[in-house]
Amino acid sequence: MSALLNLEQVDAFYGSAHILHRLSLTVQPGERVALIGRNGVGKTTVVNTILGLASLRGGRIRLGALELPRPRPYLAAQKGVVVVPQGRRIVANLTVEENLLLGAANGRKGPWTVPEIYRLFPILQERAHTPGTALSGGQQQMLAVGRALMANPSLILLDEPTEGLAPVIVDQLGQIFNAVADQGTALLLIEQNMSLVVRVAERYCAMAKGSVVAQGPVENSPAGLRDLEAHVMV
Ligand SMILES: Nc1ncnc2c1ncn2[C@@H]1O[C@H](COP(=O)(O)OP(=O)(O)OP(=O)(O)O)[C@@H](O)[C@H]1O
Ligand SMILES: [Mg+2]
Repeated sequence: MSALLNLEQVDAFYGSAHILHRLSLTVQPGERVALIGRNGVGKTTVVNTILGLASLRGGRIRLGALELPRPRPYLAAQKGVVVVPQGRRIVANLTVEENLLLGAANGRKGPWTVPEIYRLFPILQERAHTPGTALSGGQQQMLAVGRALMANPSLILLDEPTEGLAPVIVDQLGQIFNAVADQGTALLLIEQNMSLVVRVAERYCAMAKGSVVAQGPVENSPAGLRDLEAHVMV
């Protein structure tokens, strides 16, 4: 079976700024992978390169059997790869429900529908007709996750989904990520909170200066946590 996502020796740029250097990364169907590293190492640029928002100038990106010489956001969604972007990007003048429907626009048909999202996040149903940006930070993150699920992805790229959220909300999101993964959706979790990483991920890739410099299994134990934290300590 081919990987859902396969980056091979990728070089990526913003204009003339060379950010990713021969970066290789794979996610297999159903796998839960964490992508970790300090601020500014290029984690979001990995996502942006898959979407075509940073320019791919070396190496290759494949989604399943399809090679993407010119990545584009709609190509990723059509192939079942969706992003929950850093900072959430809820559309301000749309309601909660309209934001969810937007997620289905470029996606695939499948089990995730508005009622299913409301079953997963009852608070979104209560706030269905409220402007999306009127929600609290944690609720907006639930909406961003719900919107991604509406595309019925086989892989979700989560870019720092717990940034700035209270511990109780982080715990709740961790449970949701595990529930989604238990249904067979693969996750690439970009995260600075290593205690969440050990609860969700089974494998990690650590980045430094635009490359993956270490990877291995994640162990949910104090020793496993210490190993991961070494990659993100300043
Ligand atoms: N649009 C851009 N144009 C030029 N350089 C950029 C652009 N966006 C990001 N960079 C630079 O690219 C590098 C990698 O940034 P990136 O956002 O991928 O890091 P990150 O690992 O996601 O960091 P964080 O943990 O803070 O989100 C940084 O040095 C950043 O300053
Ligand atoms: Mg980032």
